Amino acid sequence: MNMQIPNSPTKSPIGLDGVPAAETALSHVDGERGELVIAGERVGDLVRGASFEGVTARLWTLGTGQPIGEAAVRAALGAARERAHARLPRLLAATTGLSIVDGVRAAIAALRSEPGLSDEATIVGALPVITGALIARGHGAQPVPPDPTLGHAADTLAMIHGRRPNARAAAALDAYLVTVCDHGMNASTFTTRVVASTQADLFAAVTAGYCALTGPLHGGAPEPVLEMLDAIATAERIAPWIDAALARGERLMGFGHRIYRVRDPRADVLKDTVGRLTEAGVELPLASAVEAYARDALRRAKPNRPLETNVEFFTAILLDALSIPRQAFTPVFAVARAAGWTAHAREQQRTGRLLRPGSVYVGAVPD
Ligand code: ACO
Repeated sequence: MNMQIPNSPTKSPIGLDGVPAAETALSHVDGERGELVIAGERVGDLVRGASFEGVTARLWTLGTGQPIGEAAVRAALGAARERAHARLPRLLAATTGLSIVDGVRAAIAALRSEPGLSDEATIVGALPVITGALIARGHGAQPVPPDPTLGHAADTLAMIHGRRPNARAAAALDAYLVTVCDHGMNASTFTTRVVASTQADLFAAVTAGYCALTGPLHGGAPEPVLEMLDAIATAERIAPWIDAALARGERLMGFGHRIYRVRDPRADVLKDTVGRLTEAGVELPLASAVEAYARDALRRAKPNRPLETNVEFFTAILLDALSIPRQAFTPVFAVARAAGWTAHAREQQRTGRLLRPGSVYVGAVPD
């Protein structure tokens, strides 16, 4: 994929670099130290100790101000997956002919409040059901019904593949969901908060957040990462391919970040997760060699701007190793990030404050 992005004025508040838009107790990104804290814990520790349901419980407790425990979240998400499955004819009504990424957008927009479920559970529970159904439709298959007795990660894989995952695969997807469930004031979370700040409902706010996620500068990067690895294909082609892409002024997908000036800590967490799958037979030599060469080449090309591996590089490799179709990588990212979006939407709504930034007028001035 060719990525030629017009240069942006990075040394001014245009683009909102470093401008705080909200106070949040949900997560914090320290770009200088390469640290990510989610619900009070470093991401590496969180992944070792918490399930997706556990971290979602913590985010929702902080976002809503109403304590909820892991077991209650597990039960609510199981019920919400079943409810979404029952609603699939309505949810998928406007998705005919759309890609998986675009179909998910239309289906989230069709979600409504469900009796007996919080809107946050309805949304987070529906995402893997919609994603699995759109993948199944792509092979002409029927949607796989959810199993509320499974964890959210295991059931996501079961609905995508039509069979129960093994424990190692379920644990790897769970680690991924925890790793990317929230990440400060990223573009999709900011978008979600802007819509929530108008007191629009969570369905409107999360639909908008998902739209922001789909762009390649944000959550749309992992599919192009795999396209890059496919295009490189062999070890001998790594250097000429990357050098030529940089010489054409293209961006290497899976590298660079607006906030991190050192390595994205999530890249290490996901690399370890991929490593555990590697023991199960996934080979990584080409990806590791591409990563190493790309980091050196970026250091030479942009000596004044640290450009390190970001979360999307290992997301692509991990989701591919889990046999998730690449066209569904962004929706699977959304399965995780929906936990953060819903918590941020609630946190923003509770402030009662409308987000309404200014602009720098550069147009004509009347006489
Ligand atoms: N490859 C090559 N050059 C790059 C890359 C890259 N991946 N990223 C930045 N640069 C260059 C820019 O073109 C710019 O060059 P210039 O000074 O000659 O104009 C310079 O480095 C500085 O760019 P930044 O100000 O750091 O870029 P910005 O903060 O606007 O962008 C972004 C961050 C969008 C993530 C960028 O690094 C990028 O496009 N990366 C590739 C896409 C990607 O991996 N996206 C996923 C991000 S992670 C996430 O959102 C979940």
